[in-house]
Parts: sequence; structure tokens; C-alpha cells
Amino acid sequence: MPSDWTYAPAPEARDIVTLEERYGLFVGGRWVEPRSGETYTTISPATEEPIAEIAQAGKDDVDLAVGAARDAHENGWSAISPSERAKYLFRIARILQERSREFAVLESLNGGKPIRESRDVDLPLAAAHFFYYAGWADKLEYAFPNRRPQPVGVAGQIIPWNFPLLMLAWKIAPALAAGNTVVLKPAETTPLTALLFCDVVRQAELPPGVVNIVTGDGRTGAELVKHPGVDKIAFTGSTEVGKAIQRELAGTEKRLTLELGGKAANVIFDDAALDQAVEGIINGIYFNQGHVCCAGSRLLVQESIYEPLIGKLKRRLATLRVGDPLDKNTDVGAINSKAQLDRIKELVAAGEEEGAEIYQPPCRLPEKGYWFAPTVFTNVAQSYRIAQEEIFGPVLSTLTFRTPEEAVEKANNTAYGLSAGVWTEKGSRILWMAQRLRAGVVWANTYNRFDPASPFGGYRESGFGREGGLHGLEPYLEFE
Ligand code: NAI
Ligand code: MG
Repeated sequence: MPSDWTYAPAPEARDIVTLEERYGLFVGGRWVEPRSGETYTTISPATEEPIAEIAQAGKDDVDLAVGAARDAHENGWSAISPSERAKYLFRIARILQERSREFAVLESLNGGKPIRESRDVDLPLAAAHFFYYAGWADKLEYAFPNRRPQPVGVAGQIIPWNFPLLMLAWKIAPALAAGNTVVLKPAETTPLTALLFCDVVRQAELPPGVVNIVTGDGRTGAELVKHPGVDKIAFTGSTEVGKAIQRELAGTEKRLTLELGGKAANVIFDDAALDQAVEGIINGIYFNQGHVCCAGSRLLVQESIYEPLIGKLKRRLATLRVGDPLDKNTDVGAINSKAQLDRIKELVAAGEEEGAEIYQPPCRLPEKGYWFAPTVFTNVAQSYRIAQEEIFGPVLSTLTFRTPEEAVEKANNTAYGLSAGVWTEKGSRILWMAQRLRAGVVWANTYNRFDPASPFGGYRESGFGREGGLHGLEPYLEFE
């Protein structure tokens, strides 16, 4: 065990970000005061310091935004030449690249994720999504030959707090490329990068009303879902809310895609390169504090390598640096909210009560803010809550298996089906596993890899519909 991993602090400067004290709603290309008259304070989860006042949009506000999106759709956006549409998307992509440090700092400040991740993952991928879908905007006829693709109309988009700007990009880029206009609602705890994105929209000279941003909590989301002027809802978030939205939309003409939770198995066979596998396990569950729908939260280890693998994993865990999200050396940042921290604590307590063995490396957590130490559970039975429920925190549940058949059975023993990982030297075994794992994405000898060209989405309680790739355009198109 290393005796001391102290690093000198390497804080990222905050002054690149200019914050308003108070933000309105972005509707029809302008900032408007919320008609609801309600606001709330958004904070930094790492320090609990207040950052800005945010509008809590009500029914009238949502109505105004949907109206602006409808006008923009009918008065130009759906009719302009596809190559013009592409031009705007390319502009947005380039501006995001140019302003990436500003966005990365703001993302880490408001959401608690390490600056290393917002800088190296969230921002490059967000820009890449706009570049990718910009390329399709004038090629839809080729992408869907003989199907006469047409935009759906106005898309209502509701996103979570774990990848605020990236989820915005996943939603807005394909919608615009396909000729739709949007009303997007960011999550209540992380509205700031979506609000900064309004400035990108302005800079790109996107016609007014093509992108509208309404802030607020679940009540605002529910208004958007219910609004009769919305043609399509795209939702990423909890399975519980996803189901409620599906019930609400049953029997209506509105289209729906849901990207919900997960409880992915990360399966390590005895012939895997163990040190690489340990890195993959760490990346799979501690990336973004485990606030990842496709997190590798169930570790399945072949019995013959259980001891050495767990030993290596615990040693590696002790080297993770937990703390200030804006420090460039930080590996694990703050938990996004008090509510999420409470949920993690409750499930971890349940794991201990049910009889699992807990391991946490010695680490000093800051006094202010929301923190949870990286955690590994061993001796986990499949029936335990920590093996069944999405924890959405830096908590790994370890199970074992003897044969590939048993690995498949255990991996598939979940209500979810979003992602899985397989670690083995044998290509034939990767293919054998991939055919049997019921998961939308299967990573082999890697984990949490994303590319805009590659569709992402799940089975069963993980939702339906795909984002990314050509598949990600389809939900935003109508075919004759
Ligand atoms: P949530 O599903 O309540 O929130 C996600 C988004 O939906 C937010 O923008 C929220 O304002 C909105 N929303 C909430 N209620 C709504 C409603 N009735 N109608 C329309 N929109 C609504 O998720 P929450 O409460 O933040 O997290 C709870 C759990 O959900 C987490 O612990 C995690 O397990 C899971 N989750 C999964 C995510 C994923 O990426 N698949 C993302 C966020 C949470
Ligand atoms: Mg909720």
C-alpha cells in the first residue's frame, strides 16, 4: 500500500466563467422572466455555496416556449435547405470547442464532476455530437433511401444531471439535424451549462425559437410532457419517471424515447489481462462518481481469479483522489445533490445489513458539500438490493461465477439491460458473450467508451429508442 499520495493542489481557475446572479428562461431567442414568478437557488455540490438564481418555469412558461418552437418550425426552420441547417450545427460544434474550458469549468462547478472528466470527456463528446449530426443534416435522403424523411415537429426534451451538457448535445443535435425545433428542460440541480449554451445559440445566429430552454424541476418536465403542442418527448432519467411519462402519453399521438437506468455487469474471465481489467473496473464504476446509467456497477469475477483481482482492485482504490472537482488531480468529485447522497447512503446501509462485506479506502472527505468514498462490496448475493437496484454512486457490488453460462445467467438477472462489459483474451468468447448478454451496449476489454456514430440505448427497464448514430435520427423523423 503506498504510504502517501499527496499531490500539490492544481486548481483550475474559475474566472473564465462569467455568472449572472439570476437567469430567466430562453424562449424565442430572448431571455424572458418566468411568468410563474418562481425561482430557486442552484448551488455547487462540492461546497454547498449558492451560485445563481434559476427560474422555476410553470405551465404558462412551458406554453410560451412550445409556442415559440412551433412558430420557428413553421416559419422557416423546417423549410430551410438542409445544408443551411448543417451550417448552424457546424457553427455550434466549433463554438463549443472554442469555449470548451469555460463550459468545462462551469459543468464541474455546478455538477461536482472532476474537471479532468468535463474537460476530456463531456466537452469533446458534446462538440463531436454536433459535428456528427451536422454531417447528416443534408444527407437524410441517403440515410433513409426511398422513405422521404420529414421532421416530426416540436421536440420536448428532458435531461438528467449526470452529463448535463453532453445530454443536451445528444438531444438537440439529432433533433435539429432532422429539421425539428426543441424545448429542452435541464435537470434542476445542473441548469447552468444549458443556460450558457443559449449564448452559443445566439453566437451561432440560430433563428429564434429553434432552441428554447426552460428550467425547473419535475413539475416543469411534467408540463412539457403534457403539452398538446409537443410532437415528441425524449427523456433521460429514472425508470420511475420514465414509466410515469409512458403512462401519461399512452393513447396520444406523441412519440416517445426513454433512456433510463441500468445495473450493468462487468464480467472478468480468468484469462483477462488483470491490470487492464482493474483499470476498466475503476473507470466503469468510479467515473463521474458512478452517476452513470451504463456504469459497471455489478462486478462478476471468475472464481479462480477472485483473490488476486480483489487484492489489485483494493490497492488501486486507495490511489483514487477524492475531492475538489476543480482540481486537475481529482479522480472522484462531489455527489451531485443531497438527495442523491441520501439515496446512496440508504442503499449502502442496506448492503451492510443484508450481509455484504464493505471496503472503503482510507480517505479524508471535505467537511462541506456532498461526498461519498469509493466503495467496494464483496460477498454480495444476487438477491441483495445492492445487486438489484441502481445506486448511481461510487459503489461496486462484487459477485463471482465459475462458468461462462453462469456469468451470462447472473449478468442477465436484472430488470435492466443497458450495457455490459466483458474482459477476456479470447475473441470467440467475447462474441459468444455478446450474443447472450441482454444489453444495448457490450464493451469488450474496455468500458464507458462513447462515440457519436455508435447507437446507445437499452432493453426492458432501461428504456427504448436509440441515441447516437443513424438510429438516433429516426425518432426525430417521420417517414411517408
Ligand atoms: P429523475 O428521473 O427524477 O430526473 C431526471 C429528469 O426528469 C430531471 O430533469 C427532472 O427534473 C425530470 N423529472 C422529474 N420528474 C418528472 C416528471 N414527473 N415528469 C417529467 N420530468 C420529470 O431522476 P432523479 O430523481 O434526479 O434521480 C433518481 C434516480 O434516477 C437516480 O438515483 C438514478 O438511479 C436514476 N437516474 C438515472 C439517470 C440516467 O442517466 N439513466 C439519470 C438520472 C437519474
Ligand atoms: Mg426524481
